[in-house]
Amino acid sequence: TTYTVGYFVGSLSSKSINRILSKALVRLAPDNLEFFEIPIGDLPLYSQDYDDDFPPEAIALKEAIGRADAILFVTPEYNRSIPGALKNAIDWASRPWGQNSFDHIPAAVIGASIGAIGTAVAQQSLRAVLSFCNARQMTAPEAYIHYSPEVFLDDGEVTNDATAAFLSNFMVEFRDHLVRVLTVLPRQ
Ligand code: FNR
Repeated sequence: TTYTVGYFVGSLSSKSINRILSKALVRLAPDNLEFFEIPIGDLPLYSQDYDDDFPPEAIALKEAIGRADAILFVTPEYNRSIPGALKNAIDWASRPWGQNSFDHIPAAVIGASIGAIGTAVAQQSLRAVLSFCNARQMTAPEAYIHYSPEVFLDDGEVTNDATAAFLSNFMVEFRDHLVRVLTVLPRQ
């Protein structure tokens, strides 16, 4: 069986190292996963005023999550949390009340930074948000990626064998996690 993974890149930067990481993950993932990116850059700032009448960008966001069997978050750390653009997208997708797009969705979190701590604090913050949204998160393995341009080429090629093996194993574990969740009880 082939499974479809929708992935979020938490950065709006045109040179995002997390987008490069997302390309590496797609390249290294098992063959029975296919991927599409769920864009977050055109969403207005969420307000409850929209709950009766979502704008097209937000409807597209919720439809995209609906098409995915599982969700992967690839995010930078901003000031020890997740970027506002990503939180905004999550807030949109969680609403209106009773139509939370993340309910029971298999999910995983990963991120890259130029600092030594490798987005660990942002990922903890994101995990707390996703817990409230009732996503079925992969708890282990964790992946705190220290980016360097020699290891991650712009097209997503990973030049270091140990790093490539680590990321490839992360994606195998994610595949196994989502299969486990969906096998117990498929999403509607
Ligand atoms: C950062 N950066 C950063 N890095 C980190 O490890 N912990 C942090 O808390 C922060 N905080 C932070 C805030 C803001 C506003 C910016 C712009 C940057 C540095 C960050 O890791 C670096 O800019 C990455 O390149 C961001 O990822 P993308 O956008 O390249 O994917």
